[in-house]
Amino acid sequence: MKDSLNELHPTAPLSAYEKAVEEGVDPRCIPQYLDGPVPVGSDIVKPVYSDQHNENWKHLFNRQMDLLPGRAGEAYMHGVHLMGMNDGGIPALADLSNALNSATGWQVGRIPGLLHEKDFFDLISKRNFPSTDYIREENELDYTPAPDCFHDMFGHMPMLAQPSVADFYQMFGQSALHATGMQQTHLERLHWFTIEFGLIRQAEGLRVFGAGIMSSKEEALHALSDEVEVIPFSLETVIQQEYEVWNLQPTLFALDSFDQLVDEFRFWSSKQGLAA
Ligand SMILES: [Fe+2]
Repeated sequence: MKDSLNELHPTAPLSAYEKAVEEGVDPRCIPQYLDGPVPVGSDIVKPVYSDQHNENWKHLFNRQMDLLPGRAGEAYMHGVHLMGMNDGGIPALADLSNALNSATGWQVGRIPGLLHEKDFFDLISKRNFPSTDYIREENELDYTPAPDCFHDMFGHMPMLAQPSVADFYQMFGQSALHATGMQQTHLERLHWFTIEFGLIRQAEGLRVFGAGIMSSKEEALHALSDEVEVIPFSLETVIQQEYEVWNLQPTLFALDSFDQLVDEFRFWSSKQGLAA
């Protein structure tokens, strides 16, 4: 057990892992430190996936695509199309990276699992989206606490093809690298209520764009239901709002536009001394 944990997380202190595992924490949910540069774009080699793993992708893709029209925002649906995602199996990260690069100059970096936040922000700040390339197993199709490529690819990447979101996320990474104290808490909340669970008001009505909603059947059904209190987005309000990690979201925030997110973040980060 010790050896396998050491291998999985080569540079982190072993005692922290031993302690976490003893406390019942899933080792896949313990952040890892990178010990060198990750492969990016066309340098990423596609793994050979089993039929079952491609079947898992197909199941998840079709299930979400049945739910998302009328719920997901226009930019998200456009992104899925632009990136060529379909139910024909797990896409190659190199191909997704190429599509993103053409759209907004983002690339994809392949990572081994949940990253320590410093490594994560460092990649984001360079317009490299950290993504896993393995998928959840058949017994975790409804829910997995651990990162996997369905969340990373299907949940996150389509929105990085939207120019304002692409710019916001890079600025977010640049600021997060230098944040301290409560600034870090505020940025975590902002990330949660935008990138992971954001809503946007379009001409046709309220729509979702956050990756945590896109990759979850339960959240996709729940996010626009009467059970959720939807508050107009204001960055100063969002950063005061605590969030639920283990339950469906009771409160969400709706942007008027993605430019609003860029403008408010630029103002806030500058005021905080965190602007790039
Ligand atoms: Fe995520």
